[in-house]
Amino acid sequence: MREIRVRRSIRSFSDRDVDDSLIDSLLRAGMNAPSAVNQQPWEFLVIREESDKKYIASMGPISGSAAVAPVDILMLSRTVDLQLPELVNLDMSMAAQNIMLEAVHLGLGTVFLTVVPYPERMKYIADRFKLPDTVAPFGVIALGYPSWDRLNHEVDRYEEDRIHWGAY
Ligand SMILES: Cc1cc2nc3c(=O)[nH]c(=O)nc-3n(C[C@H](O)[C@H](O)[C@H](O)COP(=O)(O)O)c2cc1C
Repeated sequence: MREIRVRRSIRSFSDRDVDDSLIDSLLRAGMNAPSAVNQQPWEFLVIREESDKKYIASMGPISGSAAVAPVDILMLSRTVDLQLPELVNLDMSMAAQNIMLEAVHLGLGTVFLTVVPYPERMKYIADRFKLPDTVAPFGVIALGYPSWDRLNHEVDRYEEDRIHWGAY
């Protein structure tokens, strides 16, 4: 699939704004992800406010993309009413990848910014956005139209010696 081959982490964006209808498509893609026992632990906070984006950018040494992207999607995972809480971060990762591939499909670029599993980052984010105990911050997807020099482009990371057929 083209979107898988050309998706790159984009950390430099054009000034072009991202319409809410595109954000809607991204979140629909996220919510279509598989999850353990279909528990769908995700919620999303869409962030456009400059001061909020700058705050996220200061979360860690390689979080700066949050400030330069027109939109940050803060992915939240439910902490209650879960049948398999130990699998929540796997569920969330599936949703994140869906969002990032849908973004390529729509001509957008994304980069995933780590929050989980670092407690200090989780608290930093939860405090700012006054998150209730029923959700926990999972990660941030910074997104926008890639700047001209940072377009999604194809790489091939195929390595035959990583594959073991039938026995190791
Ligand atoms: C779990 C995970 C955490 C990541 N965290 C960050 C991050 O905090 N900041 C960042 O700039 N990129 C982050 N990335 C992006 C990776 O650096 C990037 O995917 C990797 O270098 C491969 O490059 P590509 O995405 O362009 O193929 C993260 C990616 C993953 C999957």
